Amino acid sequence: MIEKFSVFDRCAGTKHASSAYTESMKLSVFYFSGTGNTAFIVKRIVKTLSRRYETAVYDVAGGADLAQPLKEADLVLIAFPIYGGAPPIPMRRFVHAHADLFRGKNIAIAETQYFFSGDGAATIGRTLEKFGGTVIAAEHFNMPNNIADSKFGVKNGEELRKKLTYAQVKADKFAEKILDGKKCRRGFTLLPHAVGYYSQRKYWRKGEAEKRGKLKIDPSRCVGCRACVKSCPVSNLTVEHGKAKGTGKCVFCYRCVNLCPKKAISLFGKEPPKAQYKGPFLC
Ligand SMILES: Cc1cc2nc3c(=O)[nH]c(=O)nc-3n(C[C@H](O)[C@H](O)[C@H](O)COP(=O)(O)O)c2cc1C
Ligand code: SF4
Ligand code: SF4
Repeated sequence: MIEKFSVFDRCAGTKHASSAYTESMKLSVFYFSGTGNTAFIVKRIVKTLSRRYETAVYDVAGGADLAQPLKEADLVLIAFPIYGGAPPIPMRRFVHAHADLFRGKNIAIAETQYFFSGDGAATIGRTLEKFGGTVIAAEHFNMPNNIADSKFGVKNGEELRKKLTYAQVKADKFAEKILDGKKCRRGFTLLPHAVGYYSQRKYWRKGEAEKRGKLKIDPSRCVGCRACVKSCPVSNLTVEHGKAKGTGKCVFCYRCVNLCPKKAISLFGKEPPKAQYKGPFLC
């Protein structure tokens, strides 16, 4: 059964405890999720890992001080969606801002994607190992598309059930592997690295700075309701004279594109979306 929560459900700040652990083993989860897919996988993994670990979950764009939970962690879980073969800007910022604190840490990585990244988990994994951490587990999870203004379009409801059920089972297996100490390091070998870089990341990262100002808001549709302003994880949006506008800081999470009640926002597509992604929790 798939658990039901609200649109783009967040798990930040949640604490999970189980009577099963005897010593105080701490798991700190740091995640970023634009439209709920990664939050969905995090919830599932945490459900299993909480059997052994006292767990706290943090959204890296949530504004909390993350140094202390990172210092205290016996195990760290990093989770994020892949964008053009690269980790999202908020996750990269978090990792680099806390570089010194990863030394000696055991780290698991969960990366979500629509269909392919090559070495998505390893993109962050290699950096974390450079900082002195040990990646004990890494996995990729195929999830629904959230780029609503792309030619692929989006699916909701029953159409997603099979994909989410599969992802849920994979998340359970991944968490069990972590508990059993079994090896699983998806994307860390040379071939996925080369494919991930040359097929996507090289081109994505090249124009990334310029793309941050590309958000388009159709003023004839916008009614100034501020739903997009409230939802943006990096405060990129503002409303002036009753119309929303971006301020060049977009991190491409696609939350506002999928939430705007007037379908006024598009990012990489030429036109605003015909249908919006409602997130995995409403399936
Ligand atoms: C800007 C952007 C770029 C993306 N690039 C890729 C990609 O390169 N490969 C892929 O398989 N999925 C890609 N996706 C799909 C997302 O990674 C996928 O839907 C993810 O699970 C979304 O997670 P979230 O709901 O936690 O934000 C991209 C999505 C966005 C918004
Ligand atoms: S959510 Fe849509 S309608 Fe509301 S302010 Fe933002 S762009 Fe305008
Ligand atoms: S402007 Fe929209 S797509 Fe860009 S970061 Fe904010 S919510 Fe995400």
